[in-house]
Parts: sequence; structure tokens; C-alpha cells
Amino acid sequence: MTITVRGSSGDYRIRPLEPGEERAAFEVLGRALHRTVTDEYWARREGSFPAERRFGAFASGEPVGVTGSFATRLAVPGGKALPAAAVDGVAVRADHTRRGVLTALMAAQLADCARRGDVLAVLHASEATIYGRFGYGIASRGQSLRVAGASFRADAPSGGEVRLLGTAEAQELVPRLYAEMGLSRAGMIERREVWWSYARERLIGEHQVAVHSGPRGDDGFVLYRTEDLRTFDQPNLGAALTVGDLHAADTAAVAGLWRFLLRVDLVSEVRAPGRPLDDPLAAMLTDPRACAVTGLDDESWLRLVDVPAALAAREWGPGEPVVVEVADPQLPANSGRYRITPGGAEATTGAADLRTGPETLAMLYLGDRPPSALAAAGRLEVLNPAALPHADTLFATRVTPWCGTPF
Ligand SMILES: CC(C)(COP(=O)(O)OP(=O)(O)OC[C@H]1O[C@@H](n2cnc3c(N)ncnc32)[C@H](O)[C@@H]1OP(=O)(O)O)[C@@H](O)C(=O)NCCC(=O)NCCS
Repeated sequence: MTITVRGSSGDYRIRPLEPGEERAAFEVLGRALHRTVTDEYWARREGSFPAERRFGAFASGEPVGVTGSFATRLAVPGGKALPAAAVDGVAVRADHTRRGVLTALMAAQLADCARRGDVLAVLHASEATIYGRFGYGIASRGQSLRVAGASFRADAPSGGEVRLLGTAEAQELVPRLYAEMGLSRAGMIERREVWWSYARERLIGEHQVAVHSGPRGDDGFVLYRTEDLRTFDQPNLGAALTVGDLHAADTAAVAGLWRFLLRVDLVSEVRAPGRPLDDPLAAMLTDPRACAVTGLDDESWLRLVDVPAALAAREWGPGEPVVVEVADPQLPANSGRYRITPGGAEATTGAADLRTGPETLAMLYLGDRPPSALAAAGRLEVLNPAALPHADTLFATRVTPWCGTPF
């Protein structure tokens, strides 16, 4: 399948990448991200950048734009994990931007995801102004924490052991432990081999790895690295310890891992970017201000590729039925009205209470924000005001959504 897009200075051919074209496409990505692709770097990345599920935009036979995805499953409220495309490696060469190349690539990719049966697509955005126009919405957010001078309250969970692993052991154990712990929050994704093929080396190889064991065995891990902060003027500053990845089966394991991190010698502060908004650490400290929030960012961007399947699969809260009308010009099969009840969601011809597009629907879907907040912000059209409180309770979730996997 090849689509030709007319540009002001020539045509672009949009088509699936073919085996053998991976490196040239990866160079497009490298240049756009201001990174030199050496032979050595490509050797490390090759396994995570297969031609499969990847599209290129070609000008005069040369790739100048690329997008791709890997297959995964994404947890939705209620615990089901749905087939999803984790979109990565999106770039257009600087001398071909703002001519509609990404728009054409996104259209080809979304159509392909729909054909493959992906119910959702998910990505992390380099800039927050790019993906809304393609129906992606912020579905989870992350906060950056800086922890210094912290001590635990007497009633905080305690117990368990933490041990540091060697690299080889960590490369085997961490992927297995992540899989065994399961997708405990809406927004989390399965980490398949194509993801681990690079992350095993980069994430694990470049970090210290500590594992927590509770009464039922290993139940959490943290990857961290340190950076010396000492200067000539401030020789006693110590190091900053930065958390690269932290997943645990329960709050007791989270507490055990944090107790360990906060005890590492010669460290003056612990930085933890991208933690879930309901991270329990501050509530476990004697001085909650010892855990400062230094940033709040969008985390995962979601696109409902198959709206009826996505709405039918998630759990709904209590409330009177609400009919949501969705207009999705890019994937017209999604357009229609959906009656949402505590028992499920299905297409209807009944009158609509709320009307929206795919971006806002994605912002609501995992429960990150209530419909009333998005309606107040002008993102959701309210046709029947009496339905709004019911929409709030129907869409509400018990656990804050979070992806927690970089890609
Ligand atoms: C982001 C990127 C892929 C956009 O590619 P592009 O081919 O220029 O995008 P398009 O021409 O299809 O743009 C479509 C629309 O989005 C807008 N847009 C695209 N990128 C934008 C950006 N970074 N900031 C603001 N608006 C942007 C365009 O202005 C255009 O708006 P319009 O439809 O109102 O005219 C490209 O700029 C790039 O490679 N950036 C560096 C790498 C990167 O950030 N990749 C994304 C990783 S998540």
C-alpha cells in the first residue's frame, strides 16, 4: 500500500518500510532527535527497530519521514489488557517538515493499526502540540519528585529485604519480575522482547538494580544511577541519585525500595521523574515536604483506535446511563453514539448527552480527569447538563492511571 502526497517541492510516497531500509529510516530519527547514529549505536538499537509495523515517507527514493510501533497490550480500568500499538520512532527530516509528511504517516499508521486489530495506540510525546490533531489525548500524567532529608513515619509499611543485583542477573530477573507482577494500573503496558532488546542493555546496563523481597518472594525492583554533585565550592554536596524505573507489587514493596534508596551513603537527594500522581511516598514520611514535587508532565498519550471495543472493555463506575456522541473524522467507523452504563457500553441511536472527539475521549478513558473538568475547559460539549454528574461517576476510576514504561 503506497500513498502519494503532493508537497510544494515534490511528491512523498508513504509506504510500509521494507527489510533492509531500517538503518536509513533510523538515521532520519537520529537526525531529528539531534543524535549521531554511529555503527556502534545502530548495533545496539537494531533489535528494537524492525521494519515491521513501520512506515516511511520517501522523497526521490530516500526516507525523509518515519513512524513505527510495537505490539503490546495496555491495561484499562477494570483490569483487562487490550491489544495496543506503542508508537515510537516518529520523525520528519528538518528539510521536509511542515509539509504534511507526519500527517500522512499518522493516517497510514492509524489505518494499519485498525486493520491489525489494535484497540488502542499509545505514545510519549516529545512536544505536547503534535498529537492532539491525530486523536491522541493525554491519558496519564507523571510527577517528578525530589526527596531529601526524609525519614519514615512509624506507621509506614516496613519489612522485606533489598538486594543489589549484578548486571547479568538483573537482565534476566527484571523482565521476568515485571511480567509476573502484572499490569496493576490502567495505562501500564506489557514489555515485550522488542522493547527489552534495547532496554535490557540501556536501562539495566546503565543503572544499579535493586530488588525487594517480601513475604511471597521478589515483589519490586528499582533501577537507579548516581551523579556526583560535588564542586570545588561545595565539596560536601554528595551525589544525586536518579530513579530510572521503579515497579512494585504493593505499597509495602514501594516503601522497602524507598527506604533502601534513602539510605544509600553519600547521596544528598533522590530524584524520581515520572512517578504516578498518587505516589504513596510523601504520605509515608514524617515531613511530607521532604518529598517535593518538582514537575508535573503529560505521561502517556492515548488514541482509541476501536472506540466500541475500547468502551466495551473498560469497567464503569456507578451512575445513570449517559450517551456520548463521538465524531472521529480520521477513523469514521468510530463515529456514533455510545450508551454508557455501570454494566457496559454499546452503540445506540438514543439522544446524545455529551459530544466530543477522539482526543478528549482519550483524556477521559483511563480516568485521568473527570468529564466535568473537561467540559468546564470547553473540551466536551454538554447537550444535557443533568448527565454530567453521572458521567463523572461512570468514568471515575479507583486507581490513578500511569504507564510507567518509557519508549
Ligand atoms: C514533530 C514532527 C514529526 C512533525 O512533522 P511534520 O511533517 O512537520 O508535521 P506536519 O507537517 O504533518 O504537521 C501537521 C500539523 O502539525 C503542526 N505541527 C507539527 N509539528 C509540530 C510541532 N513540533 N509543534 C507545533 N506544531 C506542529 C504543523 O504546524 C501542522 O499544522 P497545520 O495542520 O495546522 O498546518 C517533526 O517536526 C519532527 O521530526 N520533529 C523532531 C522529532 C520529534 O519531535 N518527533 C516526535 C517524537 S514523539
